[in-house]
Amino acid sequence: MNYKIKKIINKKKKYKIVCLTAYSKKIAEIVDKHADIVLVGDSLGSVLYNYNTTRKVTLEMMLEHTKSVRMGVKKSLLVIDLPYNTYRNKSEALKNSKIAIKETRCDAVKVEGGVRVQHIVRHLVQNKIPVMGHIGLTPQTIKGKFKSVGKTEREKKKLIKDAKALETSGAFAIVLECTYSDISKKISNLVKIPTIGIGSSVYCDGQVLVTDDILGLTDAKIKFVKKYVNIKKVINSAILKFKHEVKSKKYPTKKYSY
Ligand code: KIV
Repeated sequence: MNYKIKKIINKKKKYKIVCLTAYSKKIAEIVDKHADIVLVGDSLGSVLYNYNTTRKVTLEMMLEHTKSVRMGVKKSLLVIDLPYNTYRNKSEALKNSKIAIKETRCDAVKVEGGVRVQHIVRHLVQNKIPVMGHIGLTPQTIKGKFKSVGKTEREKKKLIKDAKALETSGAFAIVLECTYSDISKKISNLVKIPTIGIGSSVYCDGQVLVTDDILGLTDAKIKFVKKYVNIKKVINSAILKFKHEVKSKKYPTKKYSY
């Protein structure tokens, strides 16, 4: 097993795992300093391309962004999301995972689903492709409104089945998206691999968020998103200053001229 993957698994119940998204080199360089896992998520579809669904994201887009991110990631585990319709069966999943790993030199792939994709996860793992699972709210297959999962007994049972299916198929970690605290706690205690929560409470073994959201670059108004800075304001004031200096001929001075 890849030593970086081993390190992530060994953190369970000892140290919280920090995971953040990156879509390009410069952000990746900063995230890499502090995170354990850098995820090139297909959330880039909505964040960068204004898509209303991640289903429009293609493998080609994911590859280009991951190549850029790879240049900025030195120490963290680099995970790429396999986008919608790129892992419909075992051979398609393996073919596309191999392309992703060869072209981007990422460490692992992430797929959405539990029981539904367990045969695919097992096939990838048997072929030495490390896999991160993703259950709960799964944006690639969601119908209708985004909502939290795991309130009813039926949903709880399904989540437990999904988590166990991913663990027994060989996934090294599971993203739990928008699952209620009690079921997140139960699953995190039940499986031996780490759970990485997004809107799924402090009981998960780690947390993941979209970096653009925590920087205040997006207008996300989602319960679990905490804005740690309003970077839009910082960018705006720098651009405004530039504009004023150009108009008033304060820029460029001799220092900035040949
Ligand atoms: O696409 C993404 O960025 C994700 C994370 C938010 C978990 O799947």
